Amino acid sequence: VQFITVTQDMREAVIRHLRDSFFADEPLNKAVGLCQRGQPHAALERLCVATIADGLSVAAVERDTVLGSSDEKYNKIFNILYTVSRDLELFQTFGVDRVLECRIVSVSEHARGRGLAKELMKRSIQIAMDHGFKLFKVDATGAYSQRICSSLGLRVLQKVRYSEHCDQNGPIFKVPPPHDSLCIMALEIP
Ligand code: ACO
Repeated sequence: VQFITVTQDMREAVIRHLRDSFFADEPLNKAVGLCQRGQPHAALERLCVATIADGLSVAAVERDTVLGSSDEKYNKIFNILYTVSRDLELFQTFGVDRVLECRIVSVSEHARGRGLAKELMKRSIQIAMDHGFKLFKVDATGAYSQRICSSLGLRVLQKVRYSEHCDQNGPIFKVPPPHDSLCIMALEIP
């Protein structure tokens, strides 16, 4: 078990836990029959959200628990991104205490192929520089984001070929070409 500060990205997982436990079992909740186990409660959840936002909550979680959502499809994606990045131990490897991670780059379909994503990524790197980050990192999940990252000087720290990322039923992600791998890419900022 490890003890960690509850961050905003854990909100959904914490609320799911509370629905299964506190909402039904806390003595006063139970006395008035506030909730059935697993059921949501709007007012109580607003209180939880506000409390988590204060950034002062602590949780005990099993080591290496992935705090994903209840959506198994989403968790498949979250799992590969989380485990590959975790194993890279970026903070130790690069001797940094913060990393600016570009999590999502998205361009409307009608505006693609005009260099907008590349320009957005370039500006994100500038933001990293302006804020004193020493490492800029991207989980590039497809060929286009990988081209952009390479052209901006990011190097591949880890490559996972989708055809080789399997469970007992074969490849977990059947990704159509030209996308064939996940590349964890990073730029060291002087
Ligand atoms: N066919 C061939 N090459 C393409 C295509 C295409 N359809 N689209 C982009 N490229 C190439 C470009 O030629 C360019 O390479 P080059 O500089 O060597 O010529 C490179 O990819 C980037 O092109 P941009 O025009 O800067 O990219 P664009 O503005 O079209 O946006 C993006 C690319 C963001 C991947 C867009 O297709 C998109 O929104 N896709 C859906 C979301 C997604 O996959 N996002 C990336 C996931 S990784 C992450 O989010 C961190």
